Amino acid sequence: MPLLSVNNIEVIYDDVILVLKGLSLSVEEGQIVAVLGANGAGKTTTLKAISGLLKTEEGEVTDGTIEFGGEKINGLDPELIVKRGIFQVMEGRRVFEDLTAKENLVAAAHTQRCSRGELDKRIEQVYHYFPRLKEREHGLAGYLSGGEQQMLVIGRGMMAKPRLMMLDEPSLGLSPLLVSEIFEIIVKLNKDLGTTILLVEQNARMALNIADHGYIMENGKIVLDDTTDKLKNNEDVKRFYLGMTDVGTKRSYRDVKHYKRRKRWLT
Ligand SMILES: Nc1ncnc2c1ncn2[C@@H]1O[C@H](COP(=O)(O)OP(=O)(O)OP(=O)(O)O)[C@@H](O)[C@H]1O
Ligand SMILES: [Mg+2]
Repeated sequence: MPLLSVNNIEVIYDDVILVLKGLSLSVEEGQIVAVLGANGAGKTTTLKAISGLLKTEEGEVTDGTIEFGGEKINGLDPELIVKRGIFQVMEGRRVFEDLTAKENLVAAAHTQRCSRGELDKRIEQVYHYFPRLKEREHGLAGYLSGGEQQMLVIGRGMMAKPRLMMLDEPSLGLSPLLVSEIFEIIVKLNKDLGTTILLVEQNARMALNIADHGYIMENGKIVLDDTTDKLKNNEDVKRFYLGMTDVGTKRSYRDVKHYKRRKRWLT
């Protein structure tokens, strides 16, 4: 049985805007699973459907089911879903800017009711993975660099000790070096701590390199899914997500857009 299974869900915003149109995916315990897709495909909506955060945006799962550890979770309040062990690291590095880095970490554990000792242990664990946060622990989060803020939001996720951590575009706007650093840490969280990871990314190359399985999403549906080894060798993925032609040269984004209009993933 998969840890997470999303079965044929439909999501509607504001009672009328149909965004997810029968989307299914599953994540096995211990895996890293990547979801790739163009802007507006519905990736963030998928994560919010799972974490229950759609509710705060006038969005609703109107059909299908979401099961975690074999139990249905769609319809539960987001706090309860966090308690079950799912944490969504939101897109855009949202930190409490007026709190210090350390206070941000402490605040993230508030749903957990953990002892002082446990709290300190978790903070030390975050610092172990992100030594830079230790150095900046008393600095206001608002003054951290973009990369440090991304580390902090992932650290906040770790404070909740989730079984499944969902990350929405952690590489967005970071330098290649920082992207590598963040991705290495995601792999460590997975390998050392056994955290299952569901990763939404535009950086297809990095995502396919660290994930076990990948889903490709277009227009509210999954159009292709496979092991990442197979996806990396799929001609369409190579051409339109990895930017390679058969001879390995770069293609322009215009070609990608043109291709998207033609939509022939299912052929
Ligand atoms: N709160 C909302 N109310 C109405 N429509 C929304 C809302 N949030 C998202 N949408 C619409 O749903 C569609 C999917 O959006 P979503 O943010 O899930 O895409 P995405 O794949 O995460 O895109 P990106 O790569 O740009 O982050 C878009 O057409 C978007 O305009
Ligand atoms: Mg998004």
